[in-house]
Amino acid sequence: MIIWLIGLSGAGKSTVGRIVAERLRQNCRNLVYLDGDDLREVWGDSPGHTIEGRALNAQRISHLCHLLDSQGIHAVTAILSIFPEWQAWNRAYFSRYFEIYFDVPLETVEARDPKGIYAAARAGREKNVVGIDIPFTPPLNADLILQPPEVLEPVDAIANRILDALPSLEMAE
Ligand SMILES: Nc1ncnc2c1ncn2[C@@H]1O[C@H](COP(=O)(O)OP(=O)(O)OP(=O)(O)O)[C@@H](O)[C@H]1O
Ligand SMILES: [Mg+2]
Repeated sequence: MIIWLIGLSGAGKSTVGRIVAERLRQNCRNLVYLDGDDLREVWGDSPGHTIEGRALNAQRISHLCHLLDSQGIHAVTAILSIFPEWQAWNRAYFSRYFEIYFDVPLETVEARDPKGIYAAARAGREKNVVGIDIPFTPPLNADLILQPPEVLEPVDAIANRILDALPSLEMAE
C-alpha cells in the first residue's frame, strides 16, 4: 500500500508522516518513508520548483512508488502534490493507494513558515511558491480529509487519526 500525504508546505506532512511510518513499522518492516524534500536530493539534478520541475518530480515519485509497490514494499509518502493527474495515476497503478489531504488554512501555514518561503514570496523574493503564485488544487478523491479543528491538533493526535483510518497492512517481513 502507498499512503500518500498531500498538503501545502508547512501543513505537517513530514512531521506526521514520519510518526505514522514509525508506528506502522512496529508491525510491518517492509515499509519506507519517502519525503519529497529527500527525494529531490536523491535525484541529484534538482528539478526545481517551477510547475514543470514539480511535474517531473511528481512523475518520478509516482513511478518510484509503483516500483516499490510492485515488489511488496509499502510506503508513506509526504509530498506537496499539486497534480490531480498524478494522483489519478497513483490510484490506477498502485495495488492499494490511500490518500490523505491535510487541509490546513493558508494563514496557518504562513504563520508557521519554517522554511521562510511564504514570507519571501510575499516580499517578492521567491517565486514558484504553491498557495501564493502557484495555485493549489485540493485533491479530488482523498480517502481521508483532515480539516480544522482536527488538522490543527498536536501531531501525535493527527497521526493517530490516520492510523485509525488506514486499512490494515500485511504483517510481512
Ligand atoms: N499539527 C501541528 N500543530 C503545530 N505545529 C505543527 C503541526 N504540524 C506541523 N507543525 C509544524 O509546522 C512546521 C511544518 O511542518 P512540516 O515540515 O511537517 O510540513 P510539511 O507539510 O512537510 O511542509 P513541506 O511541504 O514544506 O515539506 C514544523 O515546524 C512542524 O513542527
Ligand atoms: Mg515536508
